[in-house]
Amino acid sequence: MSSQRTPFVGGNWKMNTNAQEGADLIDGLGSLMSGVGDAVEVAVYPPFPYLVGIGGRLSNGIMLGSQDLWKDDNGAFTGEVSAAMLKDCGVHTVLTGHSERRHVIGESDELVNQKTIKGLAAGMTVVLCIGEKIEEREAGQTDAVNERQIRAGLSGVSKDQLSKMVLAYEPVWAIGTGKTATPDDAQDAHAKIRALIAGMYDQAAADSIRILYGGSMKPGNAAELMAMEDIDGGLIGGASLKAEDFFAIIQAAQNS
Ligand code: PGA
Repeated sequence: MSSQRTPFVGGNWKMNTNAQEGADLIDGLGSLMSGVGDAVEVAVYPPFPYLVGIGGRLSNGIMLGSQDLWKDDNGAFTGEVSAAMLKDCGVHTVLTGHSERRHVIGESDELVNQKTIKGLAAGMTVVLCIGEKIEEREAGQTDAVNERQIRAGLSGVSKDQLSKMVLAYEPVWAIGTGKTATPDDAQDAHAKIRALIAGMYDQAAADSIRILYGGSMKPGNAAELMAMEDIDGGLIGGASLKAEDFFAIIQAAQNS
């Protein structure tokens, strides 16, 4: 990655852990993190019911994140959680557009955009996730899919707001599968995303935005991915559930 950007590593716990496992995980991570300082920004995204409990155990600069939010402020939206509620629980950062929400739950580009706008309005660091499915990759549509999801996801987002955002390129076929994009393929997608941001905003905005890679990143491949010029950290699923593995990825980001 480029030295002008501070790496960002997020641990997306998805629908995993119970209260005790989550507490053990965050305590273990916290003690490993002593001494990392502010060289890397680190966030964890636990399931909703554990946000407050995990928030109370954070140490050494780890930020609390939410895997989702709803697009309205309050009202008759059974089962949903608003940005203000998340802020009340100490949440600093939120994911939008994760592929499991797009492709398993069925969220549209428009809904992803509405949630992005809502998270930004609440002052949260929004991590907008994008990425192509395997059939789209095989059809040569990777860059077109990324462009569509970015243009739609960032609709109405000002340059000032963009500075509070992080992007995460996560090829859907690499998530939870053990298959990882090669560093060159990932770098190619990241460079095109950065060029797109330069065209939509300007070069300074493109130079400063962090673009994470996600999809089976683990201790064994994190360093070679993060050595690439335009890969500024990672969004980690499976490997974020073990404190030692997640910390090894944080160290790879620190050394990149
Ligand atoms: P994975 O998940 O690391 O388990 O592939 C990444 C993600 O979905 O953010």
